[in-house]
Amino acid sequence: MAIRLGDIAPDFTTETTQGPISFHKWKGDSWAVLFSHPKDFTPVCTTELGRVAALKPEFEKRNVKVIGLSVDSVESHHKWEGDIKDVTGHAVNFPMIADPDRHVSLLYDMIHPNASATATVRSVFVIAPDNAVKLTLTYPASTGRNFDELLRSIDSLQLTAKYDVATPADWKDGEDVIVALNVSDEDAKKRFPKGYVAKKPYLRVTPQPNK
Ligand code: BEZ
Repeated sequence: MAIRLGDIAPDFTTETTQGPISFHKWKGDSWAVLFSHPKDFTPVCTTELGRVAALKPEFEKRNVKVIGLSVDSVESHHKWEGDIKDVTGHAVNFPMIADPDRHVSLLYDMIHPNASATATVRSVFVIAPDNAVKLTLTYPASTGRNFDELLRSIDSLQLTAKYDVATPADWKDGEDVIVALNVSDEDAKKRFPKGYVAKKPYLRVTPQPNK
């Protein structure tokens, strides 16, 4: 069954390149990004894993643990990691799930039979400290993901979890945000002491509250 926003991310036990894990226990009360790769030794995936390894400090700054998945074995993942370091200059520094029986891929609906009967699509799940799924992305095998966009989205998720705001198109950390629709004008004056500009009655813009 598809996993929807707000659902609790299903728990599972699995083998990874860093040993066996129980997902919820491994994640603890951090944020997490679980992302799938169609297959080991494939070109786009090789670039993606190097990029995520390079961005690990950015994920850590945001209290986000990252974990990849590919349907091949732990042994195969370890061999592939050598290539990833060779090509991208970055050693894979996070666990990679081995899912040869596809039990995690099926649990998370990562196999889309009309795209491929056996390989996963490029799924991303961003999971909050309470294990609720906050964001999902699905890309086809031929399109590599933009991990700067993933970090940008996490900035928005973390900000909007804390304040009654929303973030506009193309927003980046530090830019103005939108006062949530459920906040009255009277409350907005109290809760956003830097003030707000009402471009329309429903579009009230305020400086980012935690900056
Ligand atoms: C890739 O990572 O490049 C890839 C993986 C599976 C199918 C096609 C491309």
